[in-house]
Amino acid sequence: MNIRQIEAKIISNQKLNGNYGHLEFESGIIAKQAQPGQFVNIRVVDTLDPLLRRPISIHGVSGSKVKIIYEIIGKGTQILSARKPGEFLDILGPLGNGFDYLRLAKTAQRKNILIAGGMGVAPLVFLAEKLKLSKPMILIGARTKKQLLCLQEFKALGCVVKVATDDGSSGFKGRVTDLLNVVLSQTKVAHLFSCGPGPMLKAVSQVAQENKIIAQLSLEAHMACGVGACLGCEVLTKNGYKSVCKDGPVFFSEELTW
Ligand SMILES: Cc1cc2nc3c(=O)[nH]c(=O)nc-3n(C[C@H](O)[C@H](O)[C@H](O)COP(=O)(O)OP(=O)(O)OC[C@H]3O[C@@H](n4cnc5c(N)ncnc54)[C@H](O)[C@@H]3O)c2cc1C
Ligand code: FES
Repeated sequence: MNIRQIEAKIISNQKLNGNYGHLEFESGIIAKQAQPGQFVNIRVVDTLDPLLRRPISIHGVSGSKVKIIYEIIGKGTQILSARKPGEFLDILGPLGNGFDYLRLAKTAQRKNILIAGGMGVAPLVFLAEKLKLSKPMILIGARTKKQLLCLQEFKALGCVVKVATDDGSSGFKGRVTDLLNVVLSQTKVAHLFSCGPGPMLKAVSQVAQENKIIAQLSLEAHMACGVGACLGCEVLTKNGYKSVCKDGPVFFSEELTW
């Protein structure tokens, strides 16, 4: 792995609807190496508070530009949202092991299905771009319509887009994994790729096991170093403890113990 620590110039930082932001920074090196499912670890400000970097998925690359999207949750993402174009961010990346998709990119007879919960859409847009020849299907789950992100980006990539909202304000009413079960009863599926909250990933894992489908899941964990040095993000797998930041964040579902 060829991790870089760079001072990256912010090209744009725009507020999206609701509490979300879209930021682009300049880094030809990260853009060239980045793979879907990898992330960057960002020092949002040069002062000592907040000290820890914030892990954010790579949402896409375009030439030497790297794109991220973020939800404003607490202090770190609040500060990030106030950073201006022309300023510099201290960034480590690209980090982690992303989705293993290369063998599958040309699979046409069976659908590749991407399942996102909330901000889990962030790395899946990048993955959909790599898989676009196979016209993947994306299932997006959110609490309510206002929290659905990236629909147009997936459509522009030729994906079949289906949504599930807890309150029924858009698409299927219920959990995205219930929608997944409906889709599986109607579609021949090649492979599942998922990113989102832990309980959703656990449910995707169960569905994959019941239907004997391979699933790759991108886990979230609180992180410090982001490079496998502090043991702060360990997860127990069938092959012992692994660090989410270095061995993951993407794991095959059959490797995980819940
Ligand atoms: C591999 C990976 C990729 C991620 N990709 C994205 C993304 O593309 N877009 C996005 O909006 N968010 C993403 N997250 C979650 C993001 O890192 C947190 O929302 C963010 O760190 C919150 O920081 P804060 O200071 O605003 O919140 P605070 O709650 O003030 O943060 C306090 C501490 O908790 C950590 N923390 C809080 N929430 C999370 C969380 N959900 N996951 C991990 N650490 C957390 C922070 O890093 C910080 O160290 C990702 C997390 C991981 C592990
Ligand atoms: S965050 Fe330090 S080992 Fe993963």
